[in-house]
Amino acid sequence: MKFLIINGPNLNMLGIREPVHYGRETYDDLIKKIKAYCDQKSIICDFYQSNHEGCLVDKIQEAYGVFDGIIINPGAYTHTSIAILDAVKSVGIPTVEVHISKVEDREDFRQISYIRFAAVKTITGLGTDGYLRAVDFLAEYLKK
Ligand code: DQA
Repeated sequence: MKFLIINGPNLNMLGIREPVHYGRETYDDLIKKIKAYCDQKSIICDFYQSNHEGCLVDKIQEAYGVFDGIIINPGAYTHTSIAILDAVKSVGIPTVEVHISKVEDREDFRQISYIRFAAVKTITGLGTDGYLRAVDFLAEYLKK
C-alpha cells in the first residue's frame, strides 16, 4: 500500500504557529512520526507540503495511478478550495481529511469544508495523532 500525505499552507510552521491549536511538534517531527508508523505497518508513504493551491492540485493529479490513498490536511484551503475538492474527485483516490485542531469548535469561517465532499473520512481535534488514525482508517478501508 502506498499513501501520499499532503499538507497545505502554514503547516510547515508547525511548532511555531499557534501552539494552543496546533501543539509544539514541528513539521519534521510530524513527518518522522508518520513515517515510523507507516514503516511498522509496511506501508510506503510519501510527503508533500505547499503553501500554494495550484501546487497542491498538481500533486493530487500526479498521484493518479501512483498512490492507493491520500491523507490531506489542506489547512485554510479546506474552507475555500473547490479546486482541491475537484482534484481529489478527478483522481478518485480514497482520501482522508485530517485537521490537527478541533475545527468544529472554532470560528464560523472554519465550519465549511469543501474537501469533505470527496473524503471517505474526516478526523479532527486529535492533534498530530489524527494522521496516524487516518493511516489506520485508510489501511482498513483499502483492504475491503
Ligand atoms: C487546520 C485547521 C484550518 O482551519 C487552518 O486554517 C489550518 C490548520 C488544522 O489542522 O487544524 O491551517 O487544517
